[in-house]
Amino acid sequence: MLPILLLLLQLSLLSPSSAADFCVGDPSLPTSPLGTFSCKKESAVTATDFIFSGSLATPGNVSNLLKAAVSPAFSSQFPGLNGLGLSLARLDIDVDGVIPLHTHPAASELLLVTQGSILAGFISTSNAVYCETLNQGDLMVFPQGLLHFQVACGDSPAVALASFSSPSPGLQITSIALFGNSLPSELVEKVTFLDDAQVKKLKKVLGGTG
Ligand SMILES: *[C@@H]1O[C@H](CO)[C@@H](O)[C@H](O)[C@H]1NC(C)=O
Repeated sequence: MLPILLLLLQLSLLSPSSAADFCVGDPSLPTSPLGTFSCKKESAVTATDFIFSGSLATPGNVSNLLKAAVSPAFSSQFPGLNGLGLSLARLDIDVDGVIPLHTHPAASELLLVTQGSILAGFISTSNAVYCETLNQGDLMVFPQGLLHFQVACGDSPAVALASFSSPSPGLQITSIALFGNSLPSELVEKVTFLDDAQVKKLKKVLGGTG
């Protein structure tokens, strides 16, 4: 009996449960180079650290160029997600609205349409296009790092929930990267094959200079 008890004791000491169960982020401490937060002291952690009572019940403000809004619950807004490998956002896309071509460098995405219809697609690194109209209840996955977009279809606004395989998925919007920057227009024309008028027009719309 005694050897078995000793064995069980040893196993419990070795088991992963002796590592920290969680690492609620402390935004007042410096982040790691990859953007993860340092842990809040466990004695200071409470149930509210694991709850996001932000704005996900409320439609985002779609009075903008995109006619769309993303309301994130990423580790910056919800530090309880820190280190846990997942996060969520609410998408509101008004009639004619668009979440333009973009990537999340650090995460795959699952999109669940909860209202209306969304034309969604992604482009693989071999330039294959995977594009479909999603209706309420449909779920689409966008593999990590690939360019993708969402457009509202029909004559009613669309709502969706997007979950990510990272608490901090990252975001790069292609048009803003190309035209919202300070590179000289001639250089942007050179590296995109676009003409001068188009580049200058998009720089103006998207806040670029140069
Ligand atoms: C929505 O955003 C617009 C443009 O930034 C702003 O003028 C307006 O006040 C906002 N509406 C609400 C309800 O916050």
